[in-house]
Amino acid sequence: MSSPPRPEPSPSVRELLAFYVEAGVDCALLDETVDRLAEQDVPRPTSDVVAPPAPAPQILRRAETAAPRTTAAPPPAPDVAIVSAREAARTAPTLEALRALMENFDGCPLKTTATRLVFADGNPQARVMFVGEAPGRDEDLSGLPFVGRSGKLLDLMIAAIGLDRTTAYIANVIPWRPPGNRDPSPQETQICLPFIKRQIELVNPDVLVCLGKPSSQAVLNLKDGIMRMRGRWYDYDTGTRSIRAMATFHPAYLLRQPIYKRMAWQDLRAVAKALQEAATS
Ligand code: URA
Repeated sequence: MSSPPRPEPSPSVRELLAFYVEAGVDCALLDETVDRLAEQDVPRPTSDVVAPPAPAPQILRRAETAAPRTTAAPPPAPDVAIVSAREAARTAPTLEALRALMENFDGCPLKTTATRLVFADGNPQARVMFVGEAPGRDEDLSGLPFVGRSGKLLDLMIAAIGLDRTTAYIANVIPWRPPGNRDPSPQETQICLPFIKRQIELVNPDVLVCLGKPSSQAVLNLKDGIMRMRGRWYDYDTGTRSIRAMATFHPAYLLRQPIYKRMAWQDLRAVAKALQEAATS
């Protein structure tokens, strides 16, 4: 008769942390651990199912300057949140007012897991505005868009047309980091869209550059892939004015596929030309 299997030894804290990091966990949401299995309405595992290990005490502390986390009411249903974002964004008369309004907006669930709002960087008087997808970890910690690896490449792309962050303006469709850098859901994008649209309207650049497929599709209301969308001019209608808009590759994509840098360069040359034309018209 075979002897019963020996129980697995409990994982060490180091093993648990390694597991979490590999699974994409890079921040703790609360200071205290929460036993979700002890909560009501959560089915407990039956005896022959091995329960997952309890979460490690703390993985990474939230940045010291992060807003204190409060027990907030659950966010409203997406369709309610979309309407409320639209109505709120419309009322912002300035970028400062828009930022303040977004700080207080509780309709997007991403806000509850992000460290802070990532509103924008650069010069609000700029004639060119770049719009990315969503903040990553570095942006979430610093509160500024495009400060990580892809941000360094974006700085080079902007420098290629003779500009920098004092002469360009940078924002994202989604202003809160999706947990673990997952893709934002279509609902999250729709909830955040009125805010970036109002931001574009208030900055009122001569040229708008959408970085990557998600940003180009959301802002320009397109359905194609980036290969089809990039390098073309679109009219972005703010309601009061039409702005020339270009879709190009996201710098993170160019880091993975440097072969497309040549095409991105062509797109940027077209942007530089359009800026020149706007300045002399
Ligand atoms: N990728 C984005 O789309 N935006 C950022 O701010 C950083 C990385």
